[in-house]
Amino acid sequence: MPPLHLTQATYRVKYKMIDSSIHIPVMTREVMQYLSPQNDQNFIDATLGGCGHTTSILNANSPSGRILAIDTDINAITNGRSVLREFGNRIVLAHGNLASMQSVVNETGFPPVDGVLMDLGVSSHQLSDATRGFSFKLDGPLDMRMDQSTGKPASEVIKYTPEKQLADLLFNLGGERNSRRIARAIVRERSQTSITSTLTLANLIIRTVGFKNRRLHPATKTFQALRIHVNNELDNLEAGIYGALKVCCRGARIVVISFHSLEDGKVKRIFRAASKAGLLEILTPRPVRPCPTEIASNPRCRSARLRAARTAN
Ligand SMILES: C[S@@+](CC[C@H](N)C(=O)[O-])C[C@H]1O[C@@H](n2cnc3c(N)ncnc32)[C@H](O)[C@@H]1O
Repeated sequence: MPPLHLTQATYRVKYKMIDSSIHIPVMTREVMQYLSPQNDQNFIDATLGGCGHTTSILNANSPSGRILAIDTDINAITNGRSVLREFGNRIVLAHGNLASMQSVVNETGFPPVDGVLMDLGVSSHQLSDATRGFSFKLDGPLDMRMDQSTGKPASEVIKYTPEKQLADLLFNLGGERNSRRIARAIVRERSQTSITSTLTLANLIIRTVGFKNRRLHPATKTFQALRIHVNNELDNLEAGIYGALKVCCRGARIVVISFHSLEDGKVKRIFRAASKAGLLEILTPRPVRPCPTEIASNPRCRSARLRAARTAN
């Protein structure tokens, strides 16, 4: 769904939407409904990505409302610098992790905010760039780091993690039922040769478990588990929500869009605990899902779940 201020057609022209590498913002209507940006309010978009949600918010909190936009991927920040130029000093861009939201706010001197958005996971830009290693369909280095300036690439996890630990990782973070067989195959293969490319790993998984489920590529769950592990996604999410509570004004909105049940479950538990402690009022008793029309026009959004809450007054 395009941002509210643009029709689908003008959105495609404006953002030169010619291929699947363009990120279509997910559930924009619902994000705007729950974030409810008003003139001159300030916000944090903790996951800038392709700038879609940020653009919608900046159009809604004009003329002088500002956004602090954070992304752990330096490419998103570089892209944002050119895409968001027209908004001048209403946009502050910061390369950082949402887990360190409070430090980023302190470093940039940004004021307390009226809302925080976290649209988790990877963007279409990242997924379609073979050199980033997120896709099991494109050949590239087995990296998967959103911030390539830090941490260990997935190839190192594959190379050094003991078999049992690897199997547990695939099961716990990917829900992979064949985790033990896949881990065993990886350990056997790595004793012969290095597994450093996405397709080497994807083909090994296909050889190991076959193509039983035609709707789901056999490497889907393994790649998901590795990506969550490499980027420490669940711990970052928890730190991000608690960080958001610290940088929000009273009555501010926190909106989180997650893409798998581990993330959504974590958001649910943290919101409930914060609500019991009197810090938050939950605005979405159940997760909000994209409408069928949006899923039809952007199938990548089908697993999105949105939860929103308001900080105490
Ligand atoms: C789904 S995209 C966001 C798309 C964006 N809302 C838009 O409308 O274009 C997710 C983005 O969050 C970033 N990201 C993921 N985890 C992050 C983290 N822990 N801290 C900061 N950014 C993160 C990714 O690098 C990616 O650019």
